[in-house]
Amino acid sequence: MIPFSKTLLAWYGDHGRDLPWRRTRDPYAIWLSEIILQQTRIAQGQAYWERFMERFPDVQALAGATEDEVLRLWQGLGYYSRARNLHAAAKQIAAQGRFPDTLEGIRALKGVGDYTAAAIGSIAFGLPAAVVDGNVYRVLARHYGISTPVGSAAAKKEFTALAQSLLPPEQPGDFNQAMMDFGAVQCTPASPACLLCPLADSCAALATGSVDRLPVKEKGPAVSTRRFDYIYLRCQGRTAIRKRGPGDIWEGLYEPIVCDNRSEAAEGVPGDSSPAAATAADGPEQPRLLRSVRHQLTHRTLLVDFYLWEPQQEPVLPEGYFWISEAELDRYAKPRLFELLLEEIPK
Ligand code: ADE
Repeated sequence: MIPFSKTLLAWYGDHGRDLPWRRTRDPYAIWLSEIILQQTRIAQGQAYWERFMERFPDVQALAGATEDEVLRLWQGLGYYSRARNLHAAAKQIAAQGRFPDTLEGIRALKGVGDYTAAAIGSIAFGLPAAVVDGNVYRVLARHYGISTPVGSAAAKKEFTALAQSLLPPEQPGDFNQAMMDFGAVQCTPASPACLLCPLADSCAALATGSVDRLPVKEKGPAVSTRRFDYIYLRCQGRTAIRKRGPGDIWEGLYEPIVCDNRSEAAEGVPGDSSPAAATAADGPEQPRLLRSVRHQLTHRTLLVDFYLWEPQQEPVLPEGYFWISEAELDRYAKPRLFELLLEEIPK
């Protein structure tokens, strides 16, 4: 075996993390873990994996659930398209009768890209496919002194070929998970433990003093800003929400009244749902500002004012909204931002 791979696997034997989906070969359990871990840290994701496995122990159970139920269990993890794809893929698998066991078959599942297909294929079926995620880029860029900016197509090709050449065909799942754990635990972004590193002798970045300059990052897309109001309407024990439609963030989740009354840059937020349009007059009937929050998404900063609006008379709701009793709010999957608003609402 290539010395790098041998040393890495030995490190994994001693320091690999003990995770519940590593104690099974059930492809469903492994697939579920990989979808959850796509944008989520293990510390947060593990509890969700356990809840999903308990509520949906097999793919048929997940396929038979409603989308609302899946989204509700997913609530708090963010990137909700993952949950919708998970549900759609469960239906694909259930219709096929069994979990696909080839890379092409796995890659054809909704929500599964090259990375996830390699992870599932290698861990569940022993397929010799190398994974390349952020951890792998970092470990390889440092160890082999590669300064190709990660994020480019050229880097993906270069790092994938290198990882593939290092992959021991008899232990692909262990090797891939060893790379991920090594990047997460040992060769970390800001403070790698080089003094205790079993690969220090052969590390190009350590030899040239460039550990903190590698990997080289490409500049990502600019972060845009959106401003809007969230209005919690309370009237005779009821409130109003609507379900978000396709084509924007938080598709399928429920939100309170959204009012975009001040920004041309706030594309996608409806502009005609001002409470002023639905109520008659100024004065005590007007929404009351509770708090202004700044909420950071990956490529977008949200500046949101939270209001509580308690009109005496039942207002006509803006298009798409419907009344529910406040006690029923728990039953609806919501973006984190709506949860934050609810924390501000007096009981
Ligand atoms: N991140 C995504 N999948 C992982 C896995 N199987 N082990 C460790 N970290 C991961």
